Amino acid sequence: MDRLIIKGKADLKGSIQIKGSKNSALPIMVSALLSKNTLKLKNLPQLDDIDNMSKLLGSYGANIKSKKDTLEIKCCNIINIDADYDIVRKMRASILILGPLIARFGKARISLPGGCAIGTRPIDIHLEGLRKLGANFQVENGYVVGEVEKQLIGNHIALPFPSVGATENIMMAASIAKGKTIIENAAREPEINDLAMALNKMGAKINVKNNGIIKIDGVNSLSETSHKIMSDRIVAGTFVIAAVMLNKKFEVKDIESNHLEALTSSLTEMGAKLKIKKTSIQIMPTTKLNGIKIQTAPYPGFPTDLQAQIMALMSLVNGNSQIKENIFENRFMHVPELNRLGAKIRVKKDIALITGNRNLKGAQVMASDLRASVSLVLAALCAEGESVINRVYHLDRGYEKIEHTLGSLGPSIKREKY
Ligand code: UD1
Repeated sequence: MDRLIIKGKADLKGSIQIKGSKNSALPIMVSALLSKNTLKLKNLPQLDDIDNMSKLLGSYGANIKSKKDTLEIKCCNIINIDADYDIVRKMRASILILGPLIARFGKARISLPGGCAIGTRPIDIHLEGLRKLGANFQVENGYVVGEVEKQLIGNHIALPFPSVGATENIMMAASIAKGKTIIENAAREPEINDLAMALNKMGAKINVKNNGIIKIDGVNSLSETSHKIMSDRIVAGTFVIAAVMLNKKFEVKDIESNHLEALTSSLTEMGAKLKIKKTSIQIMPTTKLNGIKIQTAPYPGFPTDLQAQIMALMSLVNGNSQIKENIFENRFMHVPELNRLGAKIRVKKDIALITGNRNLKGAQVMASDLRASVSLVLAALCAEGESVINRVYHLDRGYEKIEHTLGSLGPSIKREKY
């Protein structure tokens, strides 16, 4: 396994160009299963999750050509409908293949997915939505087996919660189902729009309203297209928080800053000085930051994927802060590790109480999930002395070679095997 050695009180200078979003790329890669024609994707991040998804699609017989940050996926010879357990267990996004496979081939078999250990993360909303389109499911020996008698048929589906994954699964399946589907209380995350845009370029007829209603007119087949993946709002937000924590002048570029409104308004409330433009955010040093109260919520609320990072920042500011985690029940695993670095955070059920003004000190810590890992990196950059972050494989699922990206901007950060 790998670990990171980080020198604290780090510098951060210049700017960073944000690449394509992992959470947008994964479902769009899966959407290639809906068609026998080539899907060309640009602006892909170089991440383990992207490689794993390529392997997963490859195990179905997809033909994949990759060159730098582009991928060409062609799914004309699908050889089986069974997902490889070893890949699926690493990546929750694997569950997204269920809808497309049933829609195109009438059946699918996939082991219950893995990914970050941040709660129970059930798939009942995915299954219920696909059932409404006519699919039948059984769970046998840790596998979900789904099939449809003839073809999926459009329906009216009201989601009990605006699940991102379930919205994506149903939207993909409905795009080649017979007739019209309406998804009510659909997720409104920007990644949903990016997927709809890619599918529409392939010939799907999807209309995403910004009130959580998605209307889909099923089409017979989808054609060849190319699509540029939108920029990663979570990586962008992570670097904005890093610059605020280190109190440096820094610019985060190639982004859609409106995707980060919940973050930028929270940071502004804390006293951060931000110059927000359409495609960039510039962070300016400031003299005083204050504690605030936030709660995570589905988009456009504060993203659960930036909760751990802003918690690290809250440990440094004046006064106390509070975070209520509303999306995942077990997403405070970074708390004991941040406390090892000198933070003072208490958890009461789904609320974290953060005491501010802490002087963080380098320590050995253990990364748990993807965003938790990066919150430890941020805290280590601000701490006095050296920190060692063990078990960083989760980090590699979401941040491109962080020791190089960060290392080129000032901090001293080294990777080592252990
Ligand atoms: C979630 C985040 C997404 C983030 C991703 C990776 C939200 C709303 N979603 O997406 O922004 O990028 O994690 O960290 O913030 N649920 C069910 N049954 C289901 C599906 C989900 O009960 O079938 C529950 C989950 O347990 C969770 C909530 O719904 O409490 C959100 O799940 P969902 O949006 O589906 O999760 P992801 O798609 O993984």
